[in-house]
Amino acid sequence: MQIESADLCPFGSLRGRPVTQIRLTDGPCSAEILTYGAALRSLTVPDPTGKPVDLVLGFDTVEDYVNQDCYIGAIVGPVANRIGGAACLVNGRALALDPNEAPNCLHSGLAGFDKAIWTVESASDRAVTLSHVHPDGLGGIPGDLRVSVTYTLAGRCLRIDYRAVSDRDTICNPTNHSYFNLNGHESGSVEGHSVCIHAARFTPADAAGIPTGEILPVARTPMDLRQPKPLRAGLSAEYAQLRLARGYDRNWAPDGAGFRRIAAVCGDRSGIRMTVWTDRPGVQFYTGNFLPAPLPGKSGAVYGPRAGLCLETQAFPDAPNHAGFPSIALKAGEIWTSRTEYRFDAAE
Ligand code: GAL
Repeated sequence: MQIESADLCPFGSLRGRPVTQIRLTDGPCSAEILTYGAALRSLTVPDPTGKPVDLVLGFDTVEDYVNQDCYIGAIVGPVANRIGGAACLVNGRALALDPNEAPNCLHSGLAGFDKAIWTVESASDRAVTLSHVHPDGLGGIPGDLRVSVTYTLAGRCLRIDYRAVSDRDTICNPTNHSYFNLNGHESGSVEGHSVCIHAARFTPADAAGIPTGEILPVARTPMDLRQPKPLRAGLSAEYAQLRLARGYDRNWAPDGAGFRRIAAVCGDRSGIRMTVWTDRPGVQFYTGNFLPAPLPGKSGAVYGPRAGLCLETQAFPDAPNHAGFPSIALKAGEIWTSRTEYRFDAAE
């Protein structure tokens, strides 16, 4: 482990194992990351007047993290989102995944990345690399999958770099499940935020959130967020894809390929804008529809439905079961890497 001038402190313990918090700072910005779930616990940036605002939902104790099932701040994987029937094929071999949202598998089941205590590989004042081995067969996923995630704070940008390698052919599609509230994590509903997703197409899904396999145009639907739109306007629309999920909770296919800007969100009260950049083919835009109420959060905050929104960069949900979706297959020995950035500035 390489630790230079890093700020590490005990956060608690789980089944006798310590959980550590790593604090990153760069000028007026800071971020706190936990070894439990490699979760982003706080992300503080100044608003246009210079006042620090903590933009992500989080908790004060390990127990609070363990006792919720909303994946708050965590790295989820090996395979994010849903696999229909908790079943798919890898090299023609049927996998039986964990049907934790029966009959489907959500975020890799009950032993996914979000439940693991990760190892600190290296840490400095601006970056931390955490690693984890997801053992062969756990949750039905083949191969010892060695994964690492590096969080880097670079000015008003939080970068997340992923790296994974498996010793057997497998499937790999991790994401980060932070809930952002650009008015501040404790400020209530995000319904006043404006949202823009640079995507002409999205993947519709059934009532259980399993994609139909279609990739449909957003044009003339409330899924068209190509121009910034107040969330409240979209959320109140009578549209089956919104009603089925109690709000936004679908995968968009952002335009273009390679590392590009895919979304922008503005806090209506803070004047803080977040832009999202990634090399992934998809993004799950989720408006916290299933957050329970009341959900006690950090520093006395109380969360509930729509207390935060997620922009989970990913390949499309249920990809192995849809030939038309980009593949999430990972060959044995192949090194898979990916980058996502959340950048902050003042709303225009
Ligand atoms: C999201 C998913 C939602 C919900 C949430 C966790 O990624 O799209 O449907 O399951 O995770 O509560």
